[in-house]
Formats: sequence, C-alpha cells, structure tokens
Amino acid sequence: MAMRYNAIMKGLILAGGYGKRLRPLTYSIPKQLVPIANRPIISYVVDQIRSAGISEIGVIISPHTGTQIKEVLKNESDLQFTFILQREPLGLAHAVMIARDYLGDEPFLMYLGDNLIGEPISQLIRDFDPKKEDGLILLKEVDDPRMFGVAITDERGEVVGLVEKPEEPPSKLALVGVYLFNTQIHSAIDRLKPSSRGEFEITDAITTLIKQGRKIRSKILSGWWLDTGKKDDLLAANRIILSRYHQHRIEGKVDTKTRVEGEVTIDSGTRIIASHLRGPLVIGKGCEIASSHIGPYTAIGNSCRIINSNIVESVIMEGARVESIPSLSHSIIGRKARVVKGEGEGMQLLIGDDASILL
Ligand code: DAU
Repeated sequence: MAMRYNAIMKGLILAGGYGKRLRPLTYSIPKQLVPIANRPIISYVVDQIRSAGISEIGVIISPHTGTQIKEVLKNESDLQFTFILQREPLGLAHAVMIARDYLGDEPFLMYLGDNLIGEPISQLIRDFDPKKEDGLILLKEVDDPRMFGVAITDERGEVVGLVEKPEEPPSKLALVGVYLFNTQIHSAIDRLKPSSRGEFEITDAITTLIKQGRKIRSKILSGWWLDTGKKDDLLAANRIILSRYHQHRIEGKVDTKTRVEGEVTIDSGTRIIASHLRGPLVIGKGCEIASSHIGPYTAIGNSCRIINSNIVESVIMEGARVESIPSLSHSIIGRKARVVKGEGEGMQLLIGDDASILL
C-alpha cells in the first residue's frame, strides 16, 4: 500500500478552560497540568502530537493557566509553540475561532489538553485526506455517554449526527477530544451562535458541516481513553500509565532495611528508610520516606514527606506530607497539603474549598 504524506502540519492544543470538575486541585493548577505518574497531562498530549510528526503547535491558554502551561512546555524545546490567549472559556469552537490567524488555510489537528488516549494518533493523521473529507473525529463506545459529545454514524463510519452532552444519548459513541479538520470548519464556526450553556460548541460547527452535505468521517478508538475530568478518572489514568510503565530506576538513597518489589522509580535526592515499596510506583526528587508501605499504582511528587504511613493507588503531589496514616488508598493529595494524625483527641481539619474527605 502506498504511503500518503502527512497532510497535517499544525496542531492546536486546548489548554484554557476552568477545570471545575477537578476542584479543589484546579484552583491552583490548570487541569492540563495535573500530574499522572508524575508528568503533567499535557506532556502526554505533546508526546502524541510529536510522534505523529507535527512540530508546530498552537496552544490555547487562559489568563489563569497561561504562565504555568508555558513554563511546562519550555522543556519541549524541539517543538515550536505559539500561545494564543483566550480571555474567557467561551467554548471549543471559540478557541478555534481565535486561532484562525495562526492556523491559516491549512488542515489541522485539534487536541483537547486534558484527554489521554492509549494508542498513537499517527495512523489517524495519515488516514485523513483533507481534499476528500472535511473532518475526521475519534469515537469511543462508553457505557454512559451523557457527559460527552455523542455521535450517530452510518455503516461506513460517516457521521450523520452529533449532540453535545445529551440527556438521552442517541448512541453509546462518545466524542474523544481529538479532531482533524480542513478549512471548511472555519466558515461553519463563523456562523455559530452560543449553545444553551453559553458556549460556541465544536459539535454544533460539525453539525453545520454535516447539514451542508460535507463529509465528516469517524474512527473508533480501540485502546483506552480517559477524559481526566474527575477524581476517579485521574486515578484510573494514573493506574493505566503506571501499569504500562516499565522502568526500574533508583537514583535516590534506599537503606538496607527497605524492601523494593516490582518496577519502581526513585529520583535523585530522595531518601527511603525502613520502608516497603511496591511497584509500579514513581517517587519524585527530594522526598523523605520512612517506616511506610507505598504502592502499587502510586505516584509521589517531588519534595514529599511520608512517615509511618501506608499508601496504595494514590497520587500525592509535590510538597505534600503524610504522617502516621495507617491506610490511605484511592486518594489524591494536592500540593503542599498535610495529612497528619496527631496525638490529640478527634480530628482537626483545615479543608480548602470544594475538598472532599471520605472516611
Ligand atoms: O473530553 C471529550 C469531550 O470534551 C467531548 O466528548 C465533548 O464533545 C467536548 O465538548 C468536550 O467536553 P468537556 O466538557 O469535557 O470539555 P471541557 O470544558 O472540559 O474542555 C476540554 C478542553 O478544552 C480542556 O482542556 C479545556 C479546554 N478549553 C475548554 C473550553 C470550554 C479551552 O481551552 N477553551 C474553552 O473555551
């Protein structure tokens, strides 16, 4: 079979928005920077785009996400980023509208900065022929598609209808956050009106194209997909990425009383004393861990202190402290948070807005 050239040269990552569903974490970190296996979600998105052969990437940022997103992407110096400020999160189609000058008259890939997918997108990109079709979207069958865009397709995989977050979904095919378009999408966006939730919806723009008789094709994603919208999605993503993570690398200091099982990464400057570590597990730099059982499926960020505690299937972010906690599981502990069992009677809590504690 003849190989076709890659028609797509530009990518657009959407990294604005509010991230309301991941509060309280997203009061201080953009949701695209929430760490999965100690790497920000957006870094996985960038890996995907890079391995599809795209090196020019526009990034939609918001006034409150911009600085941190730019800082993280500084490390990806082989790629050429153009940052586009979206003052208010007025919708996915609005993001494309403000990127119009950057995108020019070329087909492009749009990738939602909070979506993780478990298979390479390079084949999808090679398959798209912008001269013969106007869009290619990725779908995944899910049990409850009400939180997503939902598609109806014909027997050839062409999209015949799309609805955003319907109460009564017409199919189980959810729209994954990866889209390929030619320039037709811009004229559809120019005519859009805000939806009932006040956003310019990309699903409405695609619907306009379908009604005009334009061709929008779909492909079903066979691997896993996680829209890291909520706590359990985040923990599932952490679990999946860690279970595929086959690296055993110990740069920190581990004393002779510590037992290490399975694949464990311990970064430099970390000290482990009299503990039991079970992989898959990643531990960042400069942590202190003593008399604790940690793992499996756990990620500990930089500069954490964990003393006399047991932690499984959890994400502990940079600078957090966990002390004398006998069983912590399926938990996400935010940056510099403290979970400490003291000597006194009863519980003493200082909980930030929108926090949740399940005892
Ligand atoms: O995750 C897949 C779903 O993503 C699709 O099934 C839906 O059709 C699509 O509308 C979208 O729904 P969400 O409600 O999950 O979108 P969310 O508001 O979380 O935004 C997705 C990404 O786009 C996220 O990284 C934030 C960014 N964004 C969002 C808006 C509304 C922007 O950069 N600008 C915006 O105005």
